[in-house]
Amino acid sequence: MITRRRFLERTGILAAGLSVNKLPSPQSQVLPTLDPERLSPYVDPLLIPVIAHSSGFRPSPEDPEVQLPYYRMAMRQIESKVHRDLPATRMWGFGSSSPGPTFETRSGQGLLVEWVNELPERHFLPIDHTLHGAEANLPEVRSVIHLHGGKTPPGSDGYPEHWYVPGKSATFHYPNRQDAAMLFYHDHTMGINRLNIYAGLQGLYFLRDEVEDSLNLPRGKYEVPLLIYDRFLLPDGRLEYPVSPKPKAPWVPEVFGNAILVNGKLFPYLDVEPRKYRFRVMNGSNGRFYRLSLGKLLVFQQIGTEQGLLPAPISVQRAVMAPAERIDFVFDFSAHAGENILLRSDAFDLMQFRVAAKGAPDTSALPPNLRSIARIPESHAVMTRRLTLGERLDLVQQSMGMLLNNTPWHMPVTEKPILNTTEIWELVNLTEDAHPIHLHLVRFQILDRRPFDTFEFQGKGTIRFTGPAVPPAPSESGWKDTVRADPGLITRIIIPFEGFTGRYVWHCHILEHEDNEMMRPYEVVSAGGAP
Ligand code: C2O
Ligand code: CU
Ligand code: CU
Repeated sequence: MITRRRFLERTGILAAGLSVNKLPSPQSQVLPTLDPERLSPYVDPLLIPVIAHSSGFRPSPEDPEVQLPYYRMAMRQIESKVHRDLPATRMWGFGSSSPGPTFETRSGQGLLVEWVNELPERHFLPIDHTLHGAEANLPEVRSVIHLHGGKTPPGSDGYPEHWYVPGKSATFHYPNRQDAAMLFYHDHTMGINRLNIYAGLQGLYFLRDEVEDSLNLPRGKYEVPLLIYDRFLLPDGRLEYPVSPKPKAPWVPEVFGNAILVNGKLFPYLDVEPRKYRFRVMNGSNGRFYRLSLGKLLVFQQIGTEQGLLPAPISVQRAVMAPAERIDFVFDFSAHAGENILLRSDAFDLMQFRVAAKGAPDTSALPPNLRSIARIPESHAVMTRRLTLGERLDLVQQSMGMLLNNTPWHMPVTEKPILNTTEIWELVNLTEDAHPIHLHLVRFQILDRRPFDTFEFQGKGTIRFTGPAVPPAPSESGWKDTVRADPGLITRIIIPFEGFTGRYVWHCHILEHEDNEMMRPYEVVSAGGAP
């Protein structure tokens, strides 16, 4: 079946018959490709992004009496070594690295970040000026940063149209009034965010709280972030972004690189002690899905999703991760002293853990109960919105694009949830792809996924279910901010709209889709505003 084939292609499973690490890519026939298989694996240590440091305090925009830590983060063009035997790669990063420095902060501790655009005036990746929001009369290099998963006031959320050019900056306020979680920051510029993120504009953001502290999970050097993303690299180390055969419309619907990087390195290794570690994993790819496993399908304990801890650890052997999804897991290397263990995504080896023979005593814990999460009853929802994920033929591009609810970005706002109410959104996927759907501002729970007759829906607009509703897997049963909407299914999520009123966005997190109309504004209104 086509749908299954597309999913397999995206996870790379179809390539499993090929030799390991040889990642097929659309342009592999035309470019002199780098063959990662010919590079020695596990010669570079895993790089842990540095922790961001504040430079003083500034008054809070909410209350000038309150002083908040102030951070200055400059976006710059950098050169970065992806692998020992490759020349340095030109990228865009924050400060001197990509991924950028990691924020460490606490729930309730607000902070200010001045995101400074110090990028060059010219882009080094192929802009498609036929895309809405990337027209040829606009400056090539524009940026605006969004904190993904943040409950952020609208003026600081990084609205895609609020981009600015080199030499300018914007200071955003993150109140952080939300549970402990691993968020991430990334560019969100209209029409080019796929290129800006691919160039390197992303980084991690940790929020801690007392619930998490009390659990005594592995911490410090025993808590390791793993930001995973694929890139297309040439043998001279250059970063290449694939293009369509149409020079005036280079947009491509999806990108699969030939190299899968972990924290910016190709095939890194990490020396570990024979004890418990906590891994905070994030899929930072433009479009690739992963199905992670450790060694020969070793069992690990998943303890969290995008928006924080699960109620209890769950034993898993594999974790499927769509772009922007995060998982939090604990693995105990104590039974593997002296071994080398690979982190893999199906047939692809990503990195190696080298377990020492001995280590310091492990005083960390993995408690049986983590954080209570009340399931939101469906009866709490004041309304249900049926929203389609569909395809469209683009007459200018003569290519297929994707649309949310058949409505392009620039049309008036149609989704106006009322602050402090709960809604159910039914994501009706009419396409052959799985789309990771993300809403800004909020966290949500998955209710279920149910197959339906897509032809009948497209013909008559009626829903005829063709199978039972499937509740979310235990690994998806926590608080989410991004959900896989699989093809041929209606994925239902239940969303409390809390925090702020104002204009936000929701979109597919396959960045090529997002940049080409698979994004819509939505607006949280106060009671009395239009639904
Ligand atoms: Cu990761 Cu609109 O965001
Ligand atoms: Cu977001
Ligand atoms: Cu999509």
